Amino acid sequence: MTALILLIAYLLGSIPFALLVGKVGYGIDIREHGSGNLGGTNTFRVLGAKAGTIVILGDMLKGTLAASLPMFFSVPVHPLAAGAVAVVGHMYPVFAKFRGGKAVATSAGVVLFYSPLFFLTLIAIFLVVLALSRYVSLSSMATALYAAVYTILFTDDIPLTAAVWLLASFIVYRHRANIKRIWNKTEPKIKWPGGRS
Ligand code: G3P
Repeated sequence: MTALILLIAYLLGSIPFALLVGKVGYGIDIREHGSGNLGGTNTFRVLGAKAGTIVILGDMLKGTLAASLPMFFSVPVHPLAAGAVAVVGHMYPVFAKFRGGKAVATSAGVVLFYSPLFFLTLIAIFLVVLALSRYVSLSSMATALYAAVYTILFTDDIPLTAAVWLLASFIVYRHRANIKRIWNKTEPKIKWPGGRS
């Protein structure tokens, strides 16, 4: 039963919402546009706010649902472990040739299930860094690093600390190309509604 739950978590994480929304809603393959990433940011960039929001919520929901599986099926699997497996599915989806997203929204969905207050804190950190930098990628990595440092300094919840460090490592690793672009000053910044740039 444990293996089955982890398999379901992986399959849930593998649902490529960015690919589905792009193909079904707009007739395009999002991997051929923008950064090519199967994620909410690239969907926002290429298809706009409505499609981007659907993808972000869908990607988050995968993490939240996967983390809740052990509770629903009463199996001795830690919710954060099931959630982390879904994040692996999101990054390496069986339904999209193992070429998936950068782990941010699905990790956020996992944290939302486990600790809604910590989730809200991380959203606040993300928004502050985004307001200051206008880089989504930098905001994602800064939030992941904040979470990693926070768990070391301010919690003795070992599973949360381990999961946060694992997910933060995934996030930074998957943003390698963004780090290079930020360094080279070629990473696109978001534009504020109303045209401020
Ligand atoms: O969550 C992904 C985001 O941080 C960067 O996405 O498309 O700009 O590479 P993208």
